[in-house]
Amino acid sequence: MTKNTENRVIKSRNGQDIHIEILSDANVQALQTFNEELSEQTRSQFLPHAYDDKTILQYCERNKKNRDRIYVALLQNSIIGYFFLWDFNKPFPVLGIGIADACQGQGLGKEMMNILIEDAKTAGSKGILLTTVLSNETAFQLYLRMGFQYLGDTDNIAGDGRVVRERMMFLPLMAGAKPDIQDFKPPVL
Ligand SMILES: CC(C)(COP(=O)(O)OP(=O)(O)OC[C@H]1O[C@@H](n2cnc3c(N)ncnc32)[C@H](O)[C@@H]1OP(=O)(O)O)[C@@H](O)C(=O)NCCC(=O)NCCS
Repeated sequence: MTKNTENRVIKSRNGQDIHIEILSDANVQALQTFNEELSEQTRSQFLPHAYDDKTILQYCERNKKNRDRIYVALLQNSIIGYFFLWDFNKPFPVLGIGIADACQGQGLGKEMMNILIEDAKTAGSKGILLTTVLSNETAFQLYLRMGFQYLGDTDNIAGDGRVVRERMMFLPLMAGAKPDIQDFKPPVL
């Protein structure tokens, strides 16, 4: 087992232990519940893909093959965070992160991003791309503080097929790395 697939624990500011696991087939139902329980506000900021069984199982398969690197964060047996690098096997993976409403503002976002950034560095990625909806100032400020640069706005295809105007951001991991500007859409549609 590699370092990246070992289970680990992060702590929320209010002292709760959050267990980080690689997404597997066993998480399908808990992940659907995570999405269903998000507030409309949070879902409008984080709907990376559809949550039907078939779609999630396809992501599990991509995860197994290292095409994506996808984690779930668990508090007891409930998923409270979902975060990933899509196209993990390519030079410029795409980062996504979503945290259950009750667990936001607890320092977990930063910890989860650090896990993904460390994974990308270990894998030899040249840099990390992401997009974030124009109104999501919290996430935008967090990404800037983590070292991401704002590259301009782009269209992103959300998990329900809508085309959404978003800010595009980039964290270089190698000197002089320039991202391929691509169409942003989920790898499984
Ligand atoms: C955006 C998100 C991932 C951030 O994770 P988080 O765990 O809530 O954030 P953290 O507690 O790690 O805080 C990160 C920073 O943002 C600040 N912050 C957190 N919530 C904030 C809020 N509501 N308003 C302003 N700043 C806020 C914190 O002060 C912290 O800064 P600091 O480290 O300098 O104190 C999380 O809130 C989330 O999932 N939101 C809904 C879905 C979403 O927006 N996903 C991102 C899609 S691109």
